[in-house]
Amino acid sequence: MSENGSIAGIRHATVVGGGVIGASWAALFLARGLSVTLSDPQPGIDEAVLGHIAEAAPSLAALGLDTSRLTAHLAFEPDLATAVRSADLVQENGPERLEVKHAMWRTIEENAPAGALFATSTSGIPATEIATALTDPGRLVVGHPFNPPHLVPLVEVVPGERTSRETVERARAFYRALGKRPQVLRKEVPGFVANRLQSAIFRECVYLVSEGVVTMQELDDIVTSSIGQRWAVAGPFRSFHLGGGEGGLPHFMSHLGVGMESRWAAMAEEQVAFDEPTRRLLTEQTADFGGTVGELAAERDRKQIALMRALGETFDS
Ligand SMILES: NC(=O)c1ccc[n+]([C@@H]2O[C@H](COP(=O)([O-])OP(=O)(O)OC[C@H]3O[C@@H](n4cnc5c(N)ncnc54)[C@H](O)[C@@H]3O)[C@@H](O)[C@H]2O)c1
Repeated sequence: MSENGSIAGIRHATVVGGGVIGASWAALFLARGLSVTLSDPQPGIDEAVLGHIAEAAPSLAALGLDTSRLTAHLAFEPDLATAVRSADLVQENGPERLEVKHAMWRTIEENAPAGALFATSTSGIPATEIATALTDPGRLVVGHPFNPPHLVPLVEVVPGERTSRETVERARAFYRALGKRPQVLRKEVPGFVANRLQSAIFRECVYLVSEGVVTMQELDDIVTSSIGQRWAVAGPFRSFHLGGGEGGLPHFMSHLGVGMESRWAAMAEEQVAFDEPTRRLLTEQTADFGGTVGELAAERDRKQIALMRALGETFDS
C-alpha cells in the first residue's frame, strides 16, 4: 500500500491517452492512492474515462482496494504540456504510431519535471525507437501492461539501448509497489515476450479453425480446460519439466522432442493469414460466444479475479 500517499516515490501520475489502456491504468493508480491527471485531446474523453473507471471499480474492490473515492483525485487536462508539469510519473498510452509517440514524448520531455519517470505502454514499438525523440533517452522505458492493466499482474519492463539502469530500477520498483508483477526483459525484441507468445499460439489457433479442425468455441474450450489452466500455475518450461517425469526436461526433450520438432517443421509450412475468407469465418463464429462484448468482459473479469484470489494475487491476500 502507499506510504505517505506515494508509491515508490510516485505521488502524482500523468496518464497520457484515455483509451482502453490509459483509463484502466488511471483506475488502478487512483485506487492505489495516487493523484492522476489524464491528458487526451479527444472531445468527450472525460465521460468515456469516468465510464471506464466506474466499470473497473467493482473489480478493483474485489481485489481488495478502496474504491469509495476513486475519482476524488482525478483531473482532466487536454493540453499535454500543462498536464505533465507536476508529474512524478508519465505513463503514455497514446496511439500505436511512432510519429505520434515521438510528438507526444517531445512535449512531455520539454515540460515534465527533470526527475519524472517516463514509461510507455506500447505493445511493440521498441523504447530505442521512441526515445530518438528525446534529448535524454535514458529516461524512457517500456512499461507494457496486459489488458486490462488494472487486473492482469504482468508488466513487461523493456529498456531501450540507451535507457538508464536507474530508470529501469525505478520502473520495476514502482510497478512492484503498485502490486503488479513486473518482468524486466534482458534484450529488446519486437513485440516483447508475452505478445510474441500470443502471436505464435494465435497463428496456430487461426490455422486450426480455418482448416475446420475445430470451431472457435471448441478451440477456446480446449485451451481453457488444458494449457490455460496449466499455464496459470506452471509455465511452459516447468510444465514440460514435469512432463518428463523423474528425468525432467532433459528426458522430455529426448523422448518427445523429436515429435515436437517435426510438428514445428510442418507448422512452418502452414499458410495463415487474416485474408477475407478467414476474417469472414472468424467473424461469423463470434455469434457462438453468446453475449455482448461487455457481458463477456464482465464474466472474464469475474473469473480472472477468482483465479487471482486462488493464486494469492489479490491485494488483501
Ligand atoms: N489495447 C490493448 O490490448 C493494449 C495492451 C497493452 C498495450 N497497449 C498499448 O497501449 C497504447 C494505447 O492503446 P489503446 O488500446 O488504449 O488505444 P486507444 O485507441 O483505445 O486509445 C488511445 C488514446 O490516445 C488518445 N490520443 C491521441 N492522440 C493523443 C495525444 N496527442 N495526447 C494524448 N492522447 C492522445 C486518443 O484520443 C485515444 O483516446 C498503445 O501504445 C498500445 O499499443 C494496448
